[in-house]
Amino acid sequence: MSSKKSEWVSQKIVILGTGGTIAGLSLVPGAGGDYKAAQVDVETLVAQAGQAVAGISSSLSATSLPPVLSAEQIAQVDSKDMTEAIWQRLLQRVAQLQHDPAVQAIVITHGTDTLEETGFLLHACWPQGKPVVLTCAMRAADAPDADGPGNLRDAILMAGTPGLTGVRMVCNGQVFEGHVFQKVRTDGLQPFGADPIGAMGACHEGRYVQHSEPEKTRAYPPVTPAELERLLAADRWPRVEIVMNHVGADGRLVEHALTVSASSPDHERLRGFVVAGTGGGSCSERLSAALQSAQQQGVLVWRSTRATWGSVRSVSHERLKGVPWSPVKARVAMMLDILTGRASTTC
Ligand code: SIN
Repeated sequence: MSSKKSEWVSQKIVILGTGGTIAGLSLVPGAGGDYKAAQVDVETLVAQAGQAVAGISSSLSATSLPPVLSAEQIAQVDSKDMTEAIWQRLLQRVAQLQHDPAVQAIVITHGTDTLEETGFLLHACWPQGKPVVLTCAMRAADAPDADGPGNLRDAILMAGTPGLTGVRMVCNGQVFEGHVFQKVRTDGLQPFGADPIGAMGACHEGRYVQHSEPEKTRAYPPVTPAELERLLAADRWPRVEIVMNHVGADGRLVEHALTVSASSPDHERLRGFVVAGTGGGSCSERLSAALQSAQQQGVLVWRSTRATWGSVRSVSHERLKGVPWSPVKARVAMMLDILTGRASTTC
C-alpha cells in the first residue's frame, strides 16, 4: 500500500471554552492550592494539550493524521456563574457545528460545579448527534500537578473515536453519559458519580472503552428539530426556581416568591418550581400546600429529591408530579418543556 500520511484527511475537532478550574490560575503563580477559575484562554489550553494529542494519535494509528484542533472561547466564567444566556450561545454554536460537514466532533471545557446541568441540556438536544465531549479539572491550569491537560487530551482523543455519537463527559479517565452524572464530592480528582452503576466507560491513553450500554430511562425525551429551532430562537429563558424540603419548611419562601412574581413584568414572572424533596420526594404538609396553591395559580411544580441517588416515588395522594432527575437537572428539563412548548404555564 503506497498511501502516504499526507494523503489522509485529518479530523477536525472544535474545542469550545467556557472557563472553569481547567482554565484557572493559582493565586500564587504556579503554586497550586487557592486559585481563580476562568483565567486562561481556551486556545492556550488546546495548544498545551495538542502535543500530547498528536503523540498519542500517531501511536494509536500509523495510518491516520492527528486531528486538526480549533479553539473558540464561548465564555470565560467560573461555572457557578453560568447563565442561560451563555447556554444559549453555546447551544447556537454547537448547533452550527453539528451541521458543519468539516467538523467531526466538539469538545467543551467547563467548570465542574454546574457541569451536570450543561451536560443534561446538551444531551437533551443532541442525544445521537456528532460527539460532544465535556471535560473539566479539579486543579488550576498552572498547578504543578494540574489534571486539566490530561483530561482535555482524553476528551479530544475520545471525541475522535470512530462511531461515537452523543454527549459524554470525561474526567480523571472515567467517562459518563451527558445526562447521568452528578458532582458528588468537593475534592479529589474525581468529583463525579452516577447512580446506579457509575462511569459508563474509561479513557486511557486515547483509547475509549465502553463498559455499559447507554442509559435511557433518565434521559430527557429528545428535543425534536422543530423544538430545537424554537429553543435556539428563544430570547429569554423562563424563570424556574428550586426550593428544598427541610425540617421546619413551611412554604413561606414559595408564598413570597409568588407575591413578588405577581408584581413583576411578564418576562420575569415565575414559571415553575422544582422541589428538592426529602427521601422519595416528599414535602412537609405546609410546603406541599404552598406548592399546590402555586400550581393552581398556573405555576408548574415538579417533585425531585434532595437525596443524591435513588428515585422519586410516585405518591397517589401527592398532587405534584414526580420526576426522575436531580433538582438541578429537573430545573433544566422544566425550562426545556416550557421553551419547546411541551408544557404550558398560565402565569
Ligand atoms: C467551576 O465550576 O468553574 C469552578 C470549580 C471547578 O471547575 O472545579
